[in-house]
Amino acid sequence: MVQLTLPKNSRIKTGRTWPKPAGATNLRKFRIYRWSPEDGENPRVDTYFVDMDSCGPMILDALIKIKNEIDPTLAFRRSCREGICGSCAMNIDGVNTLACTRGLDEVASEVRVYPLPHMPVVRDLIPDLTHFYAQHASIKPWLETKTNEPQKEWRQSIEDRKKLDGLYECIMCASCSTACPSYWWNGDRYLGPAALLHAQRWIVDSRDEATGERLDDLEDPFKLYRCHTIMNCTKTCPKGLNPAKAIAEIKKALVERIV
Ligand code: SF4
Ligand code: FES
Repeated sequence: MVQLTLPKNSRIKTGRTWPKPAGATNLRKFRIYRWSPEDGENPRVDTYFVDMDSCGPMILDALIKIKNEIDPTLAFRRSCREGICGSCAMNIDGVNTLACTRGLDEVASEVRVYPLPHMPVVRDLIPDLTHFYAQHASIKPWLETKTNEPQKEWRQSIEDRKKLDGLYECIMCASCSTACPSYWWNGDRYLGPAALLHAQRWIVDSRDEATGERLDDLEDPFKLYRCHTIMNCTKTCPKGLNPAKAIAEIKKALVERIV
């Protein structure tokens, strides 16, 4: 698995060790990144002990238990707890993944939990994804058409629909882009694997009528070509998608239209 760098907040110090739950015999240790914009302090790593005899099987279960029973100030995002909404993405045991689908039996006995790496942090485990979402919007993630709207619907053959498999399933969790060294270094101008995977989803959509414009827009030394095929994106994607392949397909489409 890919080991990743820490979030953008400067120096991290050892923080508070919270008391062990009374009477618990089956304890698991969690070391969790904490940072608040209000206290003027550097980030710290707090230590918690969770009673595994009364905890669900996933990392998210442990985080919710810590918040409910030990430290209500711990902040993290979550919604669906089914690997669908993408909001619980974080760096667990050095790997970007979803807290709700990563089992406690899949990580080291002492569990390290950090926000997605190399992003500004809003608070604790919550990264600021404003720029990430703006990049997604920049690729126009919707159907662009020029011909008159059909009376009923834009039709697509079964074969053409299959071309979207492996692309439409992306849940925009940002695990891939924040695992990418090129994105760490040039994230202001390089679109990153998630936005590029979505770009490819619309480029290959047989109903879309702006393929040329979409490719024109990506033909840029930074937006697309900062990808150096490092492959961290594909290794880390918790949905098993292959953003590196999607990026390669865009590069291939650009070459093929030139020759
Ligand atoms: S490609 Fe995978 S890792 Fe990247 S945003 Fe989509 S679901 Fe998350
Ligand atoms: S809570 Fe929705 S993906 Fe984890």
